[in-house]
Amino acid sequence: MIPGPTPIPEKVLQALSKHPIGHRTKEFQELVKSTTKNLKWLHQTQNDVLTITGSGTAAMEAGIINTLSKGDKVICGENGKFGERWVKVAKEFGLDVIKIYSEWGTPLNPNEFKKILEEDKSKEIKAVILTHSETSTGVINDLETISSYIQEHNTALSIVDCVTSLGACNVPVDKWHLDIVASGSQKGYMIPPGLSFISMSEKAWEATQNSNLPKFYLNLKSYRKSLSSNSNPYTPAVNLVFALEESLKMMQEEGLENIFQRHKKHKLAISNAIKVLNLELFADKKCLSPSITAIKTGEIDAEEFRKTIKNKFDILLAGGQDHLKGKIFRIGHLGYVNDRDIITVISAIGNTLLALGKITPQQAGEAQVVASKYLESD
Ligand SMILES: Cc1ncc(COP(=O)(O)O)c(C=O)c1O
Repeated sequence: MIPGPTPIPEKVLQALSKHPIGHRTKEFQELVKSTTKNLKWLHQTQNDVLTITGSGTAAMEAGIINTLSKGDKVICGENGKFGERWVKVAKEFGLDVIKIYSEWGTPLNPNEFKKILEEDKSKEIKAVILTHSETSTGVINDLETISSYIQEHNTALSIVDCVTSLGACNVPVDKWHLDIVASGSQKGYMIPPGLSFISMSEKAWEATQNSNLPKFYLNLKSYRKSLSSNSNPYTPAVNLVFALEESLKMMQEEGLENIFQRHKKHKLAISNAIKVLNLELFADKKCLSPSITAIKTGEIDAEEFRKTIKNKFDILLAGGQDHLKGKIFRIGHLGYVNDRDIITVISAIGNTLLALGKITPQQAGEAQVVASKYLESD
């Protein structure tokens, strides 16, 4: 139960095991056509959604190098490890970064974006770059509000990491006017790592005309051109596309609203049960990510705790990153996760705390009751 790679459904595993086919065949072109159509459904957009062979960071980097130029002024939101990655990528390409920072565990403040964008009368800010669901802390940022301020600015592009929000909660790309949205296959998509996706608005395509940053493999113009004939510029990870076809079909069968509801219910079950176990959430209750819950362990070494749960129950939890190592653990509940997984992880945590003498048997039982209550609330 880590936030990626996430579990893979049986049907998807079977699709992966098929013999690869030629990527220039009619058969593969049909696959590109249907997966692209279904990706647009998932993104709730009429924009182009391109598939890149590469992990989520490839799509993040592609968003920057295709639309911006050296020295461009950009705002980067940072309230965790992945916001920090945006800053690193932007600086690596010589962008002039205005950082909006918020303590890890707290959300980015939309008003700080508003203020800087309103003050930018000469329209020097070319892009606002941020992470929607901050996997390192379990915080979801208020992308809808921040995006509305970017709209008011009118010229800046929005470049968003939706790696752990797409396929878990509502990310209506067109309704929120998101220009560039990056995501990765090993998360809500329920397929193994190796593909990333990038949605590009017309405004983003216009910006590609002036971009002078170096690019070759990630030059999105090549992807767009190939996509017009349902093809790829380079050899794609053919079997991952077989898998994508299956997983998107499963998502369509479940329906967007049901997917979002399932993630929400799991988030509520975990976050409420955890309190009964005398543990504290790391993130503010008002901004909990639907995909991942970060939990403080207080006096208990979180790394030892994770090790015990792995050894005793064969459940892998994620650790804290950087200064949070040993202080928190993170439960991934993203993608192909069901109620049984949630009850099991709560039970394993309760059992381990009980063995450590940190809670009573009553508390361990009560946590199950609380989790069940939320799981039953459809
Ligand atoms: C929020 C977020 N952004 C970006 C990434 C990076 O994706 P990748 O490791 O696929 O490059 C991850 C991966 O965990 C993530 O959770």
